Amino acid sequence: MTEDSCVLRELDEDGVLLATLNRPKKKNAFHDPQWDALAECLDQAREDPAVAVVVLTGAGGNFSSGVDLSAFVGERPPPRADGKPSAYHACVDSVFDFDKPLLAAVRGVAVGGGCTLAVASDIVYVGDSLRMRLPFANLGLVPEIASSYTLQAAIGRQRANELMFTAEWIDADRAVEMGLAARRYPDDRVLDETLSKAREIAQWPVSALRGIKQTMQVAHRQGIETARKAEDEAMNRLAGSPENIEAVTAFMQKREPDFKQFRKR
Ligand code: COA
Repeated sequence: MTEDSCVLRELDEDGVLLATLNRPKKKNAFHDPQWDALAECLDQAREDPAVAVVVLTGAGGNFSSGVDLSAFVGERPPPRADGKPSAYHACVDSVFDFDKPLLAAVRGVAVGGGCTLAVASDIVYVGDSLRMRLPFANLGLVPEIASSYTLQAAIGRQRANELMFTAEWIDADRAVEMGLAARRYPDDRVLDETLSKAREIAQWPVSALRGIKQTMQVAHRQGIETARKAEDEAMNRLAGSPENIEAVTAFMQKREPDFKQFRKR
């Protein structure tokens, strides 16, 4: 196992790579080093013939609380000076370019990017403690990681709109009932059950797994690309807006945001 990263990696002899998001004190919130580490993990796993399946999970009983709001401070990270995409964009490229099965074992918090990353995975198994949320309306923002498309594709337009507009919490039962997760397990079993399913998958030829993933995804490719462009444009418009700054400041100050101040005539 490599310990020097915010994504721990452990490859077993069956070809299952366990990737663990590892910033437990921040509920595995994504700052640039964690985006970079996940991108590198997926890029290497894609090329490594010893890897058939990746299982993504989070350390400390939580999956991820999404984008690190302390680094976000109401603004999108500036483009890299060398013209390369941001750490976030590069990682989302790696997620959607990953051409082998990606399973997610999700316990505890799966919020924002933590939720949309799970939705971008191929199979999701959840633990009883799941607390899932798409907190974009309440942050004065819009969806990311193509979830404006992938969520609708997974659960339908009505339910996706309800979750996006209300930013309501989703528990394990509801996640399974809506089709956001394949199955629910007790927390202490969800990772083992996911690894077991991953080993079942990993027994088959990688060429077949790649072919299945490609054919299952082909109808969604255009939708994902279009959604990513629209999300970036809207995010650039809204990040740093007074409403977004109020939302992030309120989170940092551990208080409720006051959006009513923006409705005064
Ligand atoms: N960015 C930065 N810090 C975060 C974070 C995030 N997304 N999520 C959690 N943290 C930090 C908290 O500030 C806290 O830090 P502290 O110990 O220094 O005070 C620590 O992680 C533990 O989180 P806490 O809020 O105390 O845990 P909780 O169980 O009460 O609530 C959440 C967990 C995820 C519901 C809550 O932290 C939250 O709403 N986070 C923001 C989620 C979000 O909006 N993400 C962005 C999506 S784009």
